[in-house]
Order: sequence, then C-alpha cells, then structure tokens
Amino acid sequence: MCGIVGYVGERNSLDVLMGGLRRLEYRGYDSAGVAVVDDDGAMETAKRAGKLKVLADELERNPLHHGGTGIGHTRWATHGGPTDRNAHPHLGDEGRLALIHNGIIENFSELKEELLAEGHSFESETDTEVAAVLLGREYRAAGDLRTAFRNTVSRLEGAFTLLAVHRSEPGVVVGARRNSPLVIGLGEGENFLGSDVAAFVEYTKSAVAVGQDQIVAITADEVVVTDFAGEPVEFESFEVAWDASAAEKGGWSSFMRKEVSEQPEAVANTLRGRVVDGAVVIPELEGFGDDELRGIRRITVIACGTASYAGMVAKYAIEQWARIPVEVELSHEFRYREPVLDADTLVVSISQSGETMDTLMAVKYAREQGARTISICNTQGATIPRESDAVVYTHAGPEVAVASTKAFVAQITALYLFGLHLARVRGTLGEAELAAQLAELTAVPEKIEQVLGEAGKVAQLAHWMADTRSVLFLGRHVGYPIALEGALKLKELAYIHAEGFAAGELKHGPIALIEPGLPVFVVVPSPRHDRSLHPKVVSNIQEIRARGARVIAIAEAGDAAVLPFADEVVRIPLASPLFEPLLAVVPLQIFAMELSQAKGLDVDQPRNLAKSVTVE
Ligand code: F6R
Repeated sequence: MCGIVGYVGERNSLDVLMGGLRRLEYRGYDSAGVAVVDDDGAMETAKRAGKLKVLADELERNPLHHGGTGIGHTRWATHGGPTDRNAHPHLGDEGRLALIHNGIIENFSELKEELLAEGHSFESETDTEVAAVLLGREYRAAGDLRTAFRNTVSRLEGAFTLLAVHRSEPGVVVGARRNSPLVIGLGEGENFLGSDVAAFVEYTKSAVAVGQDQIVAITADEVVVTDFAGEPVEFESFEVAWDASAAEKGGWSSFMRKEVSEQPEAVANTLRGRVVDGAVVIPELEGFGDDELRGIRRITVIACGTASYAGMVAKYAIEQWARIPVEVELSHEFRYREPVLDADTLVVSISQSGETMDTLMAVKYAREQGARTISICNTQGATIPRESDAVVYTHAGPEVAVASTKAFVAQITALYLFGLHLARVRGTLGEAELAAQLAELTAVPEKIEQVLGEAGKVAQLAHWMADTRSVLFLGRHVGYPIALEGALKLKELAYIHAEGFAAGELKHGPIALIEPGLPVFVVVPSPRHDRSLHPKVVSNIQEIRARGARVIAIAEAGDAAVLPFADEVVRIPLASPLFEPLLAVVPLQIFAMELSQAKGLDVDQPRNLAKSVTVE
C-alpha cells in the first residue's frame, strides 16, 4: 500500500522522485520521504508526516543537494502511526544507508530483539527500520551493498518491496520483492524502479516486472536481476500501453471526476479488438482450449470491494448465458474456509491494481488446490496476472482516485466478453442471441455518455443532501450489486452511513430503518421485459414511501410507473436488464463524489484508505 520510487541517472533524482511520488500517492498518503546520494557519496534525506505536499513544501524551504541517485516513498501506515519519525526512509549503518519499504515484515519483532541484543538502537516503531538496521549490520560484514542486501532479504518473512541506497556506493539502487510489487523502468543512461509504471512512465515506457523473490540492482547503465540466492535471472521487458498524460488530472478538479468521465472510453477500450465480425475474440485465453472451457463445471469469482460487486453483476450474466454455476466470494473469506476446488473449477479473480494481497493469496491458494485461474486486471505487469494461468486485461487506463469507478465498468465489460465467449464455446447461446448481446455491449459507451449528461441533476441532489447522515440503496437482480456499490462509494467518499440491500430483503428486517425523510436510492429495472422485476421494485418503493422515505429512483427513460412514488428520478437510457448496471452505477458514483465535495472532503484521497491494498 505504500508507493516506492528509485532512480539512477544524470537527472536531479529529487525531481524524478517527487514526480513519481505524486503519481504513486494514491497508494498511501499519510507521510512521505526521500533520500538522495550525489556522485561523491554525500547522502541527504527528508521525510514528513502528512500528504506529499507537506514534504514538497519542506523541500522548497530546505532544498536537498543535486544527486543522481535516490529513493522516495509515500506511506500508508501499518506498524507505527503516521509521524515524521515513522516516515520512510529509515537509516542503517550509522546513517550511511537509507531504506524504504512497502508491505509488512512479519518476523520483525524477533529480528529487532536480535539486533537490540547486539547493541543496535531504533528511532521508530516501524518494522521497516528493523530491515534498515539489519542491512547496516550485513553491510558491515560483507562490505558491498548487493551481498548485504541479499543476506538481509533472506532473513525477512512476510510481504515486502524494499529499495536501498548506501553512500559508499553512489550510483546504485538495490531492490527486492516478495508478495509486493516492483517494476523496473529501462531508460537510456538512466534506470528507474517503482511500485508501478506510473512512477516513471513520464521518462520511459519500457518496463520489466520484477518476479517473486527476486533482487534487482540498477545503475545508470545496467540492470541486474537475481534470485535471493544471487543466481542471475533472465527478464523480459514490456511496453507501457498508456501515456504519462493519462495519469494526470488534465484540467479536471479531481482524478475521480476525470475517471468518471472516462467511463465510455474505458468500456470501448476494453472491447476494442475483442469483437470481430460479430464474435468475441480473446487471444489472451488461447491457453484455455475450447475442450477445457466446455469441461468447466463451476466458476468461482474472487475479489474485494468494488471488484467483487463487478463479479456479482457478472454472475447473473454468465449463469444466464453460459449455464454454468458461478459463485462470488470475497478473497479474504475464500482462502480461510477450505473451499472445495478441483481441476473442473475455474477461479476468476478481479483486481484493478492486480496487487490486492487478499486476492493474490486467494489465487495462489486456488492454484495449489489444482484449480485453473484467470485474472481480470487493469494493471500491466502486476502480480496477480503473473500468478494466474491467463489474464484478460481491462483497458480502463490508470485509475488514480482511490475510489474505483472506470475500472468497475471495464471489469464488467471484460467479464461479459468472457461470459459470451464461454456461451459460444459451450453452445448455450445461438449466433443470433450472441450477436444481440454483443450489439448491446458495444452500445454501452454511447449510453454511459448519455448518463453523464445527467451529472448536473445528480450534483444538485447531492448538494441539497450535504447534511444527510444516512442513505439506503436498494436493487434487485443485477441492481442489487449496484445498490451495494452505491453504498460503498458513499461511505468511502462522504463518510456517511450507507447500506445497500436487495430490495426483496427489506421486509425481512431492514425496513425498520426507514423513517421520515430518510433518502433511499432505488435502482429500478426496466419494465419492458418478460419476467421483469419492475412491478416488484415499484411495490418496494411504495412500501418505503408509505413510511416516509425520500425516494430517488434510477429508472430508464420513459418509465412513467415510478413517477407517482419517487421524489426524484434520474434517467438512464433503455438497455436490456443485464446491461443496466453499467448505466445505473454512474449516477451513484457521481452522487457520492458530489456529496464528498459538498462536504469539503478530499474526493481522490479519502481518509484511512489507499488504492492498492497490499497487506492482509
Ligand atoms: C472502492 C475500491 C475498493 C477496491 C478493492 C479491490 O472504491 O476501490 O473496494 O475495489 O480494494 O481493489 P483491486 O481491484 O485493486 O483489487
């Protein structure tokens, strides 16, 4: 959950580090720090509690010297509160080396005792400082940074990406990773390290994903990767598929506002090249032959938070189209309950970041149990896709705001493509039906564009409701996960109590929460289809209205039946039931964003959160 950047080259490393940290700040933003080494081996560090801006202001007042080697860190606190002292880098070897860390070192207390017994002392409460002091001790013994680093990481348990510099070896940054991300940026006469490619995409688009339990040493001209035993490892580079400008705000007031507006593009880009002559083509699934796909008996989707709601939406579609049972489970629950898995179970993980530790561990567990795994992921070179048998990338572009928006619609799109592919292979949908569903899917970007046209109305609602203390969200069928997502967005962005319910569940308890004036969003299904749940949802609306709820209906254009019962109606374009979630979620995202803004909160970086949850 922390952001990490490293640099060696001709530039002033501080500029590279601060630019990289700005792009990685979504990963954690309770403190930040840098260490810079110049060619003569002078090392300077600066670190401050608070957002990156606090450090930037400090560096303006007290600039560091010009040094071509450096490391930088933005933190999401785990061990030790967000204070100046606990901020990274941490020092070892009597201040001669600096180290930064993302993850949790699980055996830090026994290592700390060992080091204390030897007379070493500590200034912070962090697990990271233990690694720094240990590296210092190993440096004293080995006399070179690479060997000392290898000896250090071999002693660590848990999850870590570590970067370190030593003033006796200017021009070198060493890094290592286990269960935490690290990517190399390959430049001309300069090289970079980062938690993800956003750290350096401004300078190079050529990247290498460092593998599990590997160590990397970069200089300006060389990149050497080894395993923890020091054996050289071959690596392959990939091209970053987006421009640095994609990770910039570009005139928008917040990343979230920009990303909400990019949703038509996120869906269109995820579809691009995958619908050919009316058929789904997913080359990434070549490793899964048609026979294998026909042999699958069960699909288990694993994900967390918003990504799990994308999985819940897709469950309805995949079961309907491919006639195969789908269960959706939170990754952190899945791996601790001894799920029944075998070679006929396909495990589909969903993760925007591709680094969520709970999901990563669940994927590893599934593979150990013999299941085949597919990753739906938005981040190239991330760990979860590399740990899976195949990956279907969503092409939403970089998502920087902590609250997920465009990745969600892209995840549903990728899962729908997969569902339609399965349906064709398994012969559960005929040509005409497949073509009809694909036509609906390709029409989604244009329809989202139309929903975005309602933003002004939703913003007004949010501003009227800025003092609201509690909001409920109701939906049925595919509208149910959308209700859950609406509630999650509001909780995380506006810090308001919010609950999402399956509308049919109301009478089984939650209706007791309804009191006069309570705002309730209702995702209303289209009335135009056989077996539509529309009448049932309208009855649910009447039940809560009779008890004084203030109803805001998300209903399709022309649905007049909701008008007598709703206080407000936000319209979405006509779509078949399975495609409504891709439209209905948009007003709920906008509502949460606007309410957060109306309360003067930070939309992009809500309190206590981080974008990429790389700890369990
Ligand atoms: C909510 C949100 C989170 C993430 C969850 C999974 O807005 O962003 O609930 O969806 O932490 O993250 P990824 O998709 O990176 O695995």
